[in-house]
Amino acid sequence: MKISVSTTAFTTLATPLLVVPVADHGSEKTAAPELLTADATLTALAAPLIAGKDITGKFAEATWLLSPAGVKAQRVLFLGAGKANKFGLTELRNLAGTAARIAKGKNIKCFTLVLPNGIDAIAGVRVTTEGLVLGDFDVDTYRSDRKDTSLEDVTLAATADAEVNKLYPAIAEGAVIAESQNLTRELALEPSNLMTPTLLAERARKMCEEAGIPCEVHGPEKIKELKMGAFWSVSQGSEEEPRLVVMRYEPEGVTDGPVIGLVGKGITFDSGGISIKPSDGMEKMKYDMSGAATMIGAMQAIAMLKPRVRVLAILCCSENMPDGKAQKPGDVQFAMNGKSIEVINTDAEGRLVLADGLCYARQLGATHLIDAATLTGAVVVALGHQNVGVFANDDDFANGLLKAAVTTGEKMWRMPVEQEYFDLIRSEIADIKNTGGRWGGAITAALFLKEFVDDKPWIHLDIAGTAWLEETKAWMPKGPSGVTVRTLVEFVRSLAK
Ligand code: BES
Ligand code: MN
Ligand code: ZN
Repeated sequence: MKISVSTTAFTTLATPLLVVPVADHGSEKTAAPELLTADATLTALAAPLIAGKDITGKFAEATWLLSPAGVKAQRVLFLGAGKANKFGLTELRNLAGTAARIAKGKNIKCFTLVLPNGIDAIAGVRVTTEGLVLGDFDVDTYRSDRKDTSLEDVTLAATADAEVNKLYPAIAEGAVIAESQNLTRELALEPSNLMTPTLLAERARKMCEEAGIPCEVHGPEKIKELKMGAFWSVSQGSEEEPRLVVMRYEPEGVTDGPVIGLVGKGITFDSGGISIKPSDGMEKMKYDMSGAATMIGAMQAIAMLKPRVRVLAILCCSENMPDGKAQKPGDVQFAMNGKSIEVINTDAEGRLVLADGLCYARQLGATHLIDAATLTGAVVVALGHQNVGVFANDDDFANGLLKAAVTTGEKMWRMPVEQEYFDLIRSEIADIKNTGGRWGGAITAALFLKEFVDDKPWIHLDIAGTAWLEETKAWMPKGPSGVTVRTLVEFVRSLAK
């Protein structure tokens, strides 16, 4: 998609579709819709529709005019932006995505979007670009009747006084970030037969090659040689070989400061193993590699935006399958740091692969750790599908990430990680067991991971409830969300400053 800025008067733009945002400036009870532009012709066109209450300004409300007088555009779409006093960058991102999806729904590949007034121009253009690119993502990859509705040309209509040369870098940046988030979504969408650990590692390698950063891919021998007994215990029951991926971003001349270690759970299919899951809904477990996909997306954006901070990423890619060779409940495994783990439930496999991933990130020099994983059903019970669960052992580090999440509009909520819960995962035969029972399941999972981060500042992102959008939104189809990519990129960039 090509995105450009125009400062020509809106009404003289020859375009198949002119999208004009309209917000509700009224109070809680009364609607007072007003266009988010001062253009006199458009305002006059909207006036009777507003008077007749056809336009209320409700978010995503679409009111169409066909070749109205005084406007060169073939169609004008007044698009509801919601309450004016709540309209900020997050809402603008979603509004741009909504415009994209409406246009695609009508197979309109080129359109013009009026940039709303009252928003910082540079930040506004950046989130608008993000919304457009994210909204352009489709999930019908393998449908024979699939129509290619990819957007081709979108013009952002700015007022005559806009400093256009300052807006283009913001567009480029927004595109990099959203395309990286879409890469994550694309990978998470793939079914497990087409996204095995080997193929996932290949996709990581391909991304690294294109972005110009080094990538190492290891198989079973290296995993065993590194004494990653917890990781291997999950992989041993699958015909598909596991893959351990290391991606590095090392900006030239940066030899001090933190080394951020990103660790992603890459279970390309989670059947539960011998503690097999019920078949109802099991097909969803193809997205159990979303943590790894997140890190691939984040590393792509980081490699392209080049912040002055070192980052390495580790992906633990495996299937979790039942088999004659699969591990069994009660088995004891030894993680890379020597800790013994009693495997009570083979379905709590994510924490096993991550335990070794976190140890390895430290061995490779990470000073700060962040993992992302579709780790527990319990986090969905706690936070639903709205918020990412954030667990951390360091307040400053966690607050930095939460601040970045506010900037990027990704909803996250801090959860406790207190030693008080540790009794739940104490084992009689080993150092720790891999499940803590029903209560506080997301917390005991985080406490388990904490055993492998040593004294390093660490954040764990449980994205089990948020990596897959359960219901289509006006700006995004249901399916993989790519959540946390934007925040990780923003946070890493903030650490460079
Ligand atoms: N991959 C699942 C968690 C999950 C659940 C992801 C729902 C996405 C949606 C994880 O490996 C798992 O099976 N966790 C178990 C842990 C339990 C056995 C302690 C769970 O949450 O039920
Ligand atoms: Mn599982
Ligand atoms: Zn899992």
